[in-house]
Amino acid sequence: MAKAKTQYACQDCGYTTPRWAGQCSGCKEWNTLVEEAVPTKVKAPVMRGGKSLSGDGGTGQAPRMSGAYGASRPQRLSDVTIAERHRIPTGLAEFDRVLGGGAMMGSLTLVAGDPGIGKSTLMTELGRGLDGNTLLYVTGEESAQQVKLRAQRMGVDPDGLYLFPETNVEAILAAAYDLQPDFMVVDSIQTVYRPDLTSAPGSVSQVRESTAALLDVTKTLPTTTFLIGHVTKQGSIAGPRVLEHMVDTVLHFEGDRHHAYRILRAVKNRFGAAHELGVFEMREGGLKEVGNPSALFLSERQFGSSGSAVVCALEGTRPLLVEVQALVASTSYGTPQRTTTGFDAKRLQVLLAVLEKREGLRFSQNDVFLNVAGGVRLEEPAVDLSVALAVASSLRDVPLDSGTVAVGEVGLGGEVRAVSRLDARLTEIKQLGFERAMVPKANMKGLKPPKGLEVIPVRRLAEALDLIC
Ligand code: TYD
Ligand code: MG
Repeated sequence: MAKAKTQYACQDCGYTTPRWAGQCSGCKEWNTLVEEAVPTKVKAPVMRGGKSLSGDGGTGQAPRMSGAYGASRPQRLSDVTIAERHRIPTGLAEFDRVLGGGAMMGSLTLVAGDPGIGKSTLMTELGRGLDGNTLLYVTGEESAQQVKLRAQRMGVDPDGLYLFPETNVEAILAAAYDLQPDFMVVDSIQTVYRPDLTSAPGSVSQVRESTAALLDVTKTLPTTTFLIGHVTKQGSIAGPRVLEHMVDTVLHFEGDRHHAYRILRAVKNRFGAAHELGVFEMREGGLKEVGNPSALFLSERQFGSSGSAVVCALEGTRPLLVEVQALVASTSYGTPQRTTTGFDAKRLQVLLAVLEKREGLRFSQNDVFLNVAGGVRLEEPAVDLSVALAVASSLRDVPLDSGTVAVGEVGLGGEVRAVSRLDARLTEIKQLGFERAMVPKANMKGLKPPKGLEVIPVRRLAEALDLIC
């Protein structure tokens, strides 16, 4: 038998090359090329005039298993009918929020997370809300008995749930076409394989080609498919980056395994807002939704202690109130430390520099630690003002006013800049019982704050510091 042809594929970007190299020419990363068998290509039929319209279109990706030219044809724009795409509720309101208001028919969603974080549990929760729909649960990691035991423990026992312990993509496709389920789960994409490729399951080409085949069945049936993906130690989804480009939605399931709270975050969503966030609690009987996460993230707040502040971050469409704690302590060994959890360390350094240069606060002999409660990661600039106040409060050892929430981006000149959707933030701030909000002056025009909430406009960080710290 002739030896199968091999090529080298980048584990990061999926770029393929016939020769090995230390550096990937696609993404310029080092040591990411791995050997794999060349995927067999579907032959494109030759059309009149001898031109082939199918093929890889120069993307370097092999064509899908089916769908070669012939099944679909180019259409005039005016002839394209917009299909009645509809959303099916998953039965978990928080999950639906993150998806953009329910699961979209014909969509492919990647759910990525650390091993043991609760991905299979989340997918089993789908079974609870089936409500007459069918779910094909393909389990490549656990046996049907193991999945059943979990479902029993969670009290999930619907008629429409079909378990299929299989890893061969051809068999999975056959089952999907046969059953035509409303939902399909593939747990996990790293375990499935296409038998016509010689590389091992989990390899770049297997993950890429299997996803292409599953994407095809998802759009053709249509069904709503969730792929489970493991995350590597470095935090990226195991398998090629192209996986993220192929799917419609990428959700990250995160949390500290030692705590009960789990956060489901939309990193990419073709059918809804990115960064949308849902909060769950892992219990004995499965995942429980946390309908009011702000109340939860503020529940362990320490009143009257310095360095504690409340930030209002907009995650997707929802404003979220979270406690941040800063601790400024004198440095005992050499270089001062800046350590953050849930906040960008570089951003903290910028804020410290602004506090030093513009407001005369000194941190050169101090360690600064910053911690965001509840395992939340803050990325929005609107939390700057609160973070700066928390740090200043700890340095001066003066507690901030516990009835006030500050919102605003801090510029390098020490100015407080406008933020987006202040109305929604103020409503949440009022709802959680705060009395005052410090807001950027630039946001005041046309602002209608909720009744009973005092609004204090500030233009500069210095004004904010004078007022509450
Ligand atoms: P699992 O969904 O198997 O994780 P993943 O698929 O991401 O690897 O969940 C693993 C953990 O969740 C396991 O340590 C047990 C815990 N768990 C609960 O606390 N309650 C439950 O109802 C279930 C099913 C699991
Ligand atoms: Mg699992």
